[in-house]
Amino acid sequence: MQGSANLNVMIKAARKAGRSLVKDFREVENLQVSMKGAGDFVSKADIAAEQIIRDELMEARPNYGWLAEEGGEAEGKDPTRRWIVDPLDGTTNFLHGLPHWAISIALEHKGEIVAGVVFDAAKDEMFYAEKGEGAWLNQSRLRVSGRSRLIECIFATGLPFGGRADLPETLQDLARILPSCAGVRRFGSAALDLAYVAAGRYDGYWERNLNAWDIAAGLLIVREAGGLVSPIEGDSILDSGSIVAGNEPIFEKFDRLVSNN
Ligand code: IPD
Ligand code: CA
Ligand code: CA
Repeated sequence: MQGSANLNVMIKAARKAGRSLVKDFREVENLQVSMKGAGDFVSKADIAAEQIIRDELMEARPNYGWLAEEGGEAEGKDPTRRWIVDPLDGTTNFLHGLPHWAISIALEHKGEIVAGVVFDAAKDEMFYAEKGEGAWLNQSRLRVSGRSRLIECIFATGLPFGGRADLPETLQDLARILPSCAGVRRFGSAALDLAYVAAGRYDGYWERNLNAWDIAAGLLIVREAGGLVSPIEGDSILDSGSIVAGNEPIFEKFDRLVSNN
């Protein structure tokens, strides 16, 4: 796909930050330090990656606004456009030497996501989409899976950790969903969970209590791959931080199962 100038800026920023994170990831794998030491190292890697992305994007588009996990929010001179960035989605995996983490960069225009990039730098998989232009993985066009029977489907989700309050709700979700499907996976990166739905690797994904930067890019990639996305609660995915995504044939059934209605 011949991407727009904005998409090319996003891909360039993701590749540059990816090189920095891959270098740090190799270091984490070799680090013989305490968890605290490794944790500090990873949070520095995370902040450095965000700085690289910010420099690249702001240099190319100085008027756009900014929302990112580490560096907060800034309104741009152009109030209709902003970047939504998670420099490292899947931090826990990164910290544990698990090669499943990604950079997520989205461009929002008048409240709508118009371009998204999710870059799995460890595997060199660049997932990207622009509104109306389809979704891509490197040079190949993406299409969601065609499975239509829930019992044959694999779904991804997130599980609450470290005493988060939504554990009971999540356990109820699992009790409802597991008997109806072929399996549920928790790989630890919301951005990649969505990219994998777009690639047809998963048939669907649901999660609550997310932030806009976790899912802004991925939700467009799913849509552009022919999938459907919707909030689990409320009217807006990004405001509610909840999302259900899936291929079209199962979406209605899956959405009802997730929302329990
Ligand atoms: C996390 C990942 C994870 C999801 C968490 C997120 P982070 O992002 O996307 O899959 O379950 O809710 O916070 O902290 O690794 O950027
Ligand atoms: Ca995240
Ligand atoms: Ca993050």
